[in-house]
Amino acid sequence: MKQAAAKAALDYIEVGDVIGVGTGSTANYFIDALARSGPAVDGAVASSEATAERLAGHGIRVLDLNDCGELPLYVDGADEFDAGLNLIKGGGGALTREKIVAESCRQFVCIVDASKAVDVLGEFPLPVEVIPMARALVCRRIASEGGEPVLRERFVTDNGNIIVDVRGLRIGDPSSLEMRLNQIPGVVTNGLFALRPADVVLVGTRAGLERREREEIQ
Ligand code: A5P
Repeated sequence: MKQAAAKAALDYIEVGDVIGVGTGSTANYFIDALARSGPAVDGAVASSEATAERLAGHGIRVLDLNDCGELPLYVDGADEFDAGLNLIKGGGGALTREKIVAESCRQFVCIVDASKAVDVLGEFPLPVEVIPMARALVCRRIASEGGEPVLRERFVTDNGNIIVDVRGLRIGDPSSLEMRLNQIPGVVTNGLFALRPADVVLVGTRAGLERREREEIQ
């Protein structure tokens, strides 16, 4: 199901594009499909060291985001999505770079299997990237939001920070929580993608591919 969604995302690429590429097993299927049978891209901006390595391994040119203008397309997986195409991401710990690259692209095509669909975000623990010295402060503030913060053991992000996974949230207003968490000093960013949600979610299901689109594409 992940592979079917990944392959369907190839249709959004134009020959010669530079595209943004996400992180995780579904993004890996996308990279492999791109290399095998996708349109010839001019290069890609990676959302993690792992993705950069996989792209380069296939001979796809990896570019620095700072050397690119706005990109046409970002393709990435997600841990959860809701009816408004708001997402939780960061299960792989790459949320900050993913958010930076997503924000730099005109269209965000999210590729998932059917298990990622939810009515209300929050069953998947919400990842928050935190500067190490702020861990205790951030955890106290998260607890006051009603969540249970759990330090991700033996994990350091590509940016040298830690991840706190927040359990027990039922996220009724994802944009508002995304903003509030990002206001806590020491939070680099959190894994809610609601201020910049997906534009299209391609869902691999047992019955075939489903396409969900947001009404307003920015
Ligand atoms: C990486 O940090 C995440 O945001 C991934 O995009 C997300 O965890 C989805 O991963 P899978 O494609 O492996 O399910």
